[in-house]
Amino acid sequence: MYLAVMGYGTVGSGVVEVLNMNKTQIAQRSTVGKLEVKQILDLRDFPGDPNESKFTKDFKDILSDEDIKIVVETMGGLHPAFEFVSDCLKAGKHVVTSNKELVAKKGYELIELAKSNNVNFLFEAAVGGGIPVIRPIEQCLAANDITEIAGILNGTTNFILTMMIEKNMTFDDALKLAQEKGYAEKDPTADIEGFDACRKICILATLAFGKHIYPESVSTQGITKISLKDIAYVNAYDSVIKLLGVAKKISDKKTFVAVYPAVIKNGSQLSSVSDVFNAVLIRGNAVGDVVFYGQGAGKLPTASAVVADVIDCARNDEKRKPIFWEDAGEDDLVISELSETAVYIRAKLKAEKDSAVAEIEEKIGRIELLTYDGAEKDEIAFITERKSEKELKDAINSIGEIETISVIRVTDY
Ligand code: HSE
Repeated sequence: MYLAVMGYGTVGSGVVEVLNMNKTQIAQRSTVGKLEVKQILDLRDFPGDPNESKFTKDFKDILSDEDIKIVVETMGGLHPAFEFVSDCLKAGKHVVTSNKELVAKKGYELIELAKSNNVNFLFEAAVGGGIPVIRPIEQCLAANDITEIAGILNGTTNFILTMMIEKNMTFDDALKLAQEKGYAEKDPTADIEGFDACRKICILATLAFGKHIYPESVSTQGITKISLKDIAYVNAYDSVIKLLGVAKKISDKKTFVAVYPAVIKNGSQLSSVSDVFNAVLIRGNAVGDVVFYGQGAGKLPTASAVVADVIDCARNDEKRKPIFWEDAGEDDLVISELSETAVYIRAKLKAEKDSAVAEIEEKIGRIELLTYDGAEKDEIAFITERKSEKELKDAINSIGEIETISVIRVTDY
């Protein structure tokens, strides 16, 4: 069976490499024999590439090629990926993508389009790179009511935070190192501001809860405001700071979905996930907690997930794999405040410490003070009790003797 690859960057070239590297096993598992790349779409030239003869700069060459049954989209970005993918589905070709922006923003439309053309639109690689997580939610955990998902979904920010925690590097130096190592893009905004993690938690939440959760409706905080002081105070609480994507089912019509840095106790399942690794914890009402861990990015890990989807398309050439993904209704609500949480707070003292502590405890209840060697004398840091997030916010705002610098949720994972 023939396929085409659109976008010969890191992931696209990895797909071609994996198809070649494991061609014997892939041919056996596909049940239709060899899976062969017939055309590759890219505007760039790749002189000397072993696949040089397969390149085209014109999308129509792929669209009109009736031999091509499966199209892999690894171009990234929304346009023209959306138009190209839509045209391929309309032409009766299966599409496999690693493009999380495309799935998070246009998933409903594209799944409907695939349905009406009786083809597959698969996207295992869009979340967690090589980690199987989409198919487990869709299939292996299908017997559960999934109540909650929490994931370290972005490798770049996890690497930066790991360098801050383990090597005492500043955010700026850690970001520079991430760029040198090729993890972070030249423009790292989507990673460090949490947009990439947002797209991924939207996809997971949609699959788990069944209604499309659009990135625009999700409160998203990145890691740019985390300082080494926060890392040190939180270390005194035997915890680390990680960027999480979190989705909780509140009711059939209401979900909490957000991306935020969180304080996580050492020894918990997510605290030890370091470097560029990703992990996703899924809580089901029958299975309990399951955690998926591995390489969330990179050429071959991501290609591994793409090629698995290609094999699935080949096996299911004549039928469509159903995906439970409806559009959001007007009365479906995504909220961004937790009914209960504890928070870590770091603040400037505007009065004597004892007096400030007395005011804080009067307004928000008992606190656990944190300190470390070298802590600034005019700062205070503490962990609150668990309370309604709204009440906590109002109470914090009413404290006159401190000026809040950082507020970070404390998780219970
Ligand atoms: N920029 C992403 C990350 C790549 O760092 O996790 C994989 O989606």
